Amino acid sequence: MGAERERIAGAMAAAAGALAVFAAVGVGLVALTEDATRQRIAANEKAFLLRTLNDVLPADRYDNDLFNDTVEVKDPELLGTQEPVTVYRAFRDSKPVAVIITPVAPDGYSGVIRLLVGIDVGGNITGVRVTAHRETPGLGDAIEAERSDWTLGFDGRSLGDPPMARWSVKRDGGEFDQLTGATVTPRAVVKAVRNALIYFDANRQSLFAHPPDLDIDPS
Ligand SMILES: Cc1cc2nc3c(=O)[nH]c(=O)nc-3n(C[C@H](O)[C@H](O)[C@H](O)COP(=O)(O)O)c2cc1C
Repeated sequence: MGAERERIAGAMAAAAGALAVFAAVGVGLVALTEDATRQRIAANEKAFLLRTLNDVLPADRYDNDLFNDTVEVKDPELLGTQEPVTVYRAFRDSKPVAVIITPVAPDGYSGVIRLLVGIDVGGNITGVRVTAHRETPGLGDAIEAERSDWTLGFDGRSLGDPPMARWSVKRDGGEFDQLTGATVTPRAVVKAVRNALIYFDANRQSLFAHPPDLDIDPS
C-alpha cells in the first residue's frame, strides 16, 4: 500500500514537473513572438513613413539621412498641437533643400488630422500628405492621396500663391476646392498647411541650422 502511494506521488510530481516545463517554454515562446512582432511592426511603420516622406519630397532631391535628420519644434498656434512636432530636414551637398513639417489640423470634422507638409528652401510646397485622420468615409476621407487628388492641389504653392487672403477653401472666398458635401475637413487642412508655411517662413534659419551631417563628420 505504501509503495503504491509512493508510486502515485512520484507520478504526480513528474506530471507537475512536466507541466512547469511546458508552461515555462510556452511563456518564453509567447515573449519571443511578441518581441519579433513588435520589431516587425516598428520596421513596417518606419518603411511606410519613409515611403510617405518620399511622396512629399522625392528621394533624388536630397542626399542626407532624412529619416534621422530631425528637429523637434513646438508652436501650438501654428502647428496645431501642444506636443513637440517633428521636422525632417533635407540637405544636398550639405546645403539646405527642404523640410518636411508634421503639423496637426486640430479642427477636422472628427478630431485631429495629422499631416506631412514638404516645403523647399524657397518656401514652395513640395507635397502634402495626410498620415492619420478619422474623417467620414465617403466624405472627408478624400483628403487621403489614395482616394483623390485633392492634396495635390497644394503642390508648388507658397505664402504668396495664392495671396494670403485666398489661402482658404472656395466656400470661404479662397482658392482651394472643397470636397463634395464636405467643407469642414478641407477647411481644416488648408488652414494647417497655410500655418505650416507661416511657421517655416518665420523659422527658416533655425530649422536648417547645424546640419548633423557636418557635426558628425568633422573631416
Ligand atoms: C454623418 C455625417 C458625417 C459627416 N462627415 C463629414 C466629414 O468627414 N467632413 C466634412 O467636411 N463634413 C462632413 N459632414 C458634413 C458637414 O456636417 C457639413 O455639412 C459640410 O462639411 C459642409 O460644411 P459647410 O456648411 O461649412 O460648408 C458630415 C455630415 C454628417 C451628417
